[in-house]
Formats: sequence, C-alpha cells, structure tokens
Amino acid sequence: MSTAPAENQVENQAAGLDPLVSFEGADKVYNSGFRALDPIGLRLPRAEITVLVGPSGCGKSTSLRMAAGLEPVDSGRIRIGDRDVTHADPKDRDIAMVFQNYALYPHLTVRGNLGFGLRMRRVDKAARKRRVAEVADVLGLGELLERRPGTLSGGQRQRVAMGRAIVREPAAFLMDEPLSNLDAKLLVSMRAQLTKLHDRLGITTVYVTHDQVEAMTLGTRVAVLRDGVLQQCDTPQALFHRPANLFVAAFIGSPAMNLVEADIAGGEVSFGGLRIALPPGSPLRGLDRRVILGVRPTDFEAAGPVTDPGLPRLRVKVDVVEKLGSESHLIFPVDAPRISAEAVRAAHDSEEIDDGVLLADDARSQFTARVDGRFRVNAGDEVTLALDATELHAFDCETGVALRGRAAAQPAAAVA
Ligand SMILES: Nc1ncnc2c1ncn2[C@@H]1O[C@H](COP(=O)(O)OP(=O)(O)OP(=O)(O)O)[C@@H](O)[C@H]1O
Ligand SMILES: [Mg+2]
Repeated sequence: MSTAPAENQVENQAAGLDPLVSFEGADKVYNSGFRALDPIGLRLPRAEITVLVGPSGCGKSTSLRMAAGLEPVDSGRIRIGDRDVTHADPKDRDIAMVFQNYALYPHLTVRGNLGFGLRMRRVDKAARKRRVAEVADVLGLGELLERRPGTLSGGQRQRVAMGRAIVREPAAFLMDEPLSNLDAKLLVSMRAQLTKLHDRLGITTVYVTHDQVEAMTLGTRVAVLRDGVLQQCDTPQALFHRPANLFVAAFIGSPAMNLVEADIAGGEVSFGGLRIALPPGSPLRGLDRRVILGVRPTDFEAAGPVTDPGLPRLRVKVDVVEKLGSESHLIFPVDAPRISAEAVRAAHDSEEIDDGVLLADDARSQFTARVDGRFRVNAGDEVTLALDATELHAFDCETGVALRGRAAAQPAAAVA
C-alpha cells in the first residue's frame, strides 16, 4: 500500500497564511541513494509553533536540518521570510537550533553559557544582562546562574541549552526533540513553559517530536510525516476530528482510534451485527459502500440514567479494564473480523505492527472505550455502552484515504 497522501495535500492548509519558513518542493536523497524526504510543500506560519511529528525515521530531523542549512537540499527551495536560503550558510539564516544532544561550554557558568552568543554578537552589556536574566527567569535557571554545567542535572542542562537559543531572539527556533531527556513531570512543566514563552516572544518555531501527545499540546499546527511523505498539516483539532487518512487517524489520539470493516448504506453503518443510524449531520451520510470505520474511544460512554436515550447502545463483554484514575479504558471484542493486514499497514508503521494485532487467536476486532473513572467495572463484566455517532470516520479499504459522503459540507481531501 502506498504511503502517498492525496495529491492535493502536498500544499498544506496554511497556504493562505504569511509563512516565515517554507519548503517549496524541497526533497532529500542521501548519498547512500536513500530517499529520506519526498518533495515537500510546507509553509510554517509566522509566530506559530509548527510541530513535525511521525514515527522514527520518517524524515523529521532531515527536514529540520534542511531548514537550518545543515543538510543540502536536492531540489526545490527553502525560504525564510522573503529570502531564498536554499544555499545560504546556517549562520546567515537568523535561526537558532536546539538539539536533543546539545553541548554546553563546560568551563563557563550558566550565566556565561547563556550570554555567550550575545557576547559574540557584541550585544552591549546592559542588554545582555537583561536578556540573560529574563530567559533564566522564564526557564527557572535563576538560582543556577553561577553554576557550571558539570554540576547540573540533565534536565537543568537541557534548559540551559534551550535558554542559549532563546536568548538570541532569532527569527525562528528549530528544535529537534529538545525535551527528550527529561523525566515525565519536568517534561510537562517544560512544555507549559515553552508555550508560555512562545506566547510572550511570538517567535516562529519548528519543533520536532515523535510523540503525538507532545505534538498536539505544543503545536499551533502539526505536520504528520510518514516514510518521508507529508500526510497532513493542520491544527491539532482538525487532525483529530478530520484526519485525512487512516495513518493520521491511527497516529493521532490516545488511546488509538478503533478500526473495523463496516458497510454504509441507506444512512446506516453496520458492523459486527450492529446497525447504527448515521445522525443527520454525519459526514458519512451519502456514502454507499464498504469502508474501514474509525471510532474514537472517547465517543463511547457507559450508558446510565442520564445518557441521551437517542444514542445507539452496544452490549459488550469487557476483556480488560485499564484503570487510570480519572478515566478507565475498557477493551472488548466486537463481533467483526479484524481489518486486513494491508489496512493495518495503512494505519500503522509496518515495523510497528505488534504481533498481537495480527496473530491473536481471537480473529475478532478489539475495541477500546474510554469511560469515566468512577464507572465501576471489572474484567469479565458485561456493560452497556452508548456511542456518539456524530463523529464516526470512514476510510477507503485499499488506499486508507478518508471518505465523506457527497452531502458533507467539507470533502475529506480538502486539506489543501
Ligand atoms: N546521513 C545519512 N545517510 C543516509 N541515510 C540517512 C542519513 N541520515 C538519516 N538517514 C535516513 O533518513 C531517514 C530519515 O532520518 P531522520 O533522521 O530524518 O528521521 P527522524 O524522523 O528524525 O527519526 P527519529 O525520530 O528516529 O529521530 C532514516 O531512514 C535515516 O536512516
Ligand atoms: Mg530525528
């Protein structure tokens, strides 16, 4: 199955916005002959955080290094502002990079490290002091200014590395998994700090991560890459609610979208002995065909006295309950065949298909429902779930492209 997105997705939705960094059909073939990036059209709007996300090896760092000038571009162009920088030196691009593996000057204090770039640029002492103090404050490094890197924890060093880029006030930040060495708690607080900092400084940022949760929380806009091909670039909301294809649908959202083969006809969708009427506004109305149906775990709820009586209900036997406190994940079989290996590959990275998905004895589909953590349920229980069918997703069984009925206001491929 091809990983190529619909043709008109190559130019993304930000096309109308004032871009600061743009890739115009830029691509990359490494000397080994390996094509790491197909020609990519991507406009990264001014003052936004655009996140590049995708599985390991999909070309995120390659794209970022091309924007930074650390990796020559094969064809196409890269612009920063109104300048064509395709062949410009990294130092002439007015960008600051933060890598996962950064190096601090070991013989300089935190203050010295933060101010080093400004000193090289002959920024006067008062301005230097002010900017270092401000960045140290934002990053919580105030107490550490006189310490040397050797005496700092990994997370503290990472913040100094980030501070060193921020203090320069460049036209754009390019960040490659800058938070990957942090523990979970620090990670959440650093993400929040980054967002705050971005709100304050408004500097265009390109941020690379393989973590979809990080992408969704940080990104004003998120570009999903797979095997060197841009799949979709849009706001987190649009990626979640209107994924362009099966891969984006399965990649974005946790727990992942449930997928099952289903038939749509006469305004109804049926699978596993269930028949669900599509509500009037459903974008799937008007389809008349076999599809891969996508159901978000969050569109289920445990049916109770206050549940909308109009919602379709399913009686299920719960195999596994994952209790996470505020919410629980119920895993249950649905009496429909598992989607084909081909379709699984369209949704997931081939090397990431876990054997459990394809080789489990139970050939039926497994669904996950996310319910309120207060709902009392144990493995083996039978429960009734209500399904909000307004946001069901449908994909072509062969290509994985999102499908919408003719009646739908917005066609699935309208990502361009
Ligand atoms: N110098 C190189 N020569 C040949 N192939 C390379 C080179 N650098 C990267 N690649 C290949 O290009 C592809 C994209 O690499 P890239 O580093 O951009 O991936 P990534 O999306 O950043 O992945 P990760 O999440 O693991 O960092 C990979 O398959 C990688 O093996
Ligand atoms: Mg990388």
